[in-house]
Amino acid sequence: MHRFRSDLKDRKVAHITVPLKRRMMCLNESVLDPYQSVREAFLLRMDQVHLNRYFSEVSVELAQELADYVGHGVTPDMVVWGNGADDMLYHVFMAVRENDRSFLAAMSPSYFDYKCYANAVGLQARFVPLDEHFDFDLAAYLALAADPDCKLCVVCQPNNPTGNLFDEEKILAILRGTTKPVLVDEAYFEFAGQTLVSKLDEFPNLMVVRSFSKSFSAAGLRFGYLVSQRENTDQVRKVMTFFHSSIFIQTLALTMLEHRAVFIEHTRRVCEMRDELLAAMCQIPGLRVWPSHTNFLLFSAGDCSAALHLHLQDCGIAVRDVGAHPRLAECLRVTVTSEDDNRVFLKSMRTFLDGKDKRRT
Ligand SMILES: Cc1ncc(COP(=O)(O)O)c(C=O)c1O
Repeated sequence: MHRFRSDLKDRKVAHITVPLKRRMMCLNESVLDPYQSVREAFLLRMDQVHLNRYFSEVSVELAQELADYVGHGVTPDMVVWGNGADDMLYHVFMAVRENDRSFLAAMSPSYFDYKCYANAVGLQARFVPLDEHFDFDLAAYLALAADPDCKLCVVCQPNNPTGNLFDEEKILAILRGTTKPVLVDEAYFEFAGQTLVSKLDEFPNLMVVRSFSKSFSAAGLRFGYLVSQRENTDQVRKVMTFFHSSIFIQTLALTMLEHRAVFIEHTRRVCEMRDELLAAMCQIPGLRVWPSHTNFLLFSAGDCSAALHLHLQDCGIAVRDVGAHPRLAECLRVTVTSEDDNRVFLKSMRTFLDGKDKRRT
């Protein structure tokens, strides 16, 4: 007898394993520790916070501070937060699912976990393939969106793991071409500096999800948020538990927002390092690297990628192998972390690819 939802029976438990290396360049994390950056201010704030209570003024202040940070006339009731952008995706998926036939439309390759979280709530996922320029066919996407069982359109902007921004006009065409909710995942927005939040007034079907894991350097904090018109945020709140996000986390997120200059400066530096790394990688024979609007770069050493991946691990560097997707065959993804990491990463790659040429001659 199966005691749980019948579709869970044949699904495997996802075990996320990453090699723990000295230089973690595989999960698009940051080397800046947010706690250390705001510790004193946070502890001062915590002195005024009472964890024996369900409610705190911190929640009211956070909603206002977050709305101010997002800007473009966004008000506190247009913002919902939770345990990371993933958690917001999960709750949106839960809020749109109608029945067993319901599905979301997304691009492929894109953020691999859309399917995972959709399936977790009994929502299917269907994909429009990206072409060799990592672009998508608008007509095909709109055709998928027009299916009566399509309940949500998802666009990752900029896209992970390809790093590119889609043409904003095409996303606006999706918003115009369907009345279904369109969720734009802006987890890497701060690195790209381009957002659709300014279009929230115009499009009642637009929802934007963002993360504190990337530009705010706080992957372990688990804080992300959704911004949309009040009618939509209300629907998502209906599928969330009342005290979903701890006051402790809210206090740290609020303190980080109040000291956001530290994170904005770090993001600016990461963008610089990314462009430097891209330029340096372009000079390495045998390597192909794609430009990026995020904190990571997609690259390939062709049929040497698998061996390069292992070589980097031996050098204490973890990068992500994303080659399981046919469009990304033989591709790896590296996170831009620090000058020191980048230097050692470049040196290790040059050593490997140099040796490869010598082995062949
Ligand atoms: C595109 C995209 N969306 C969402 C997330 C999840 O972010 P969070 O850590 O806030 O859950 C990630 C994390 O890598 C991501 O790449």
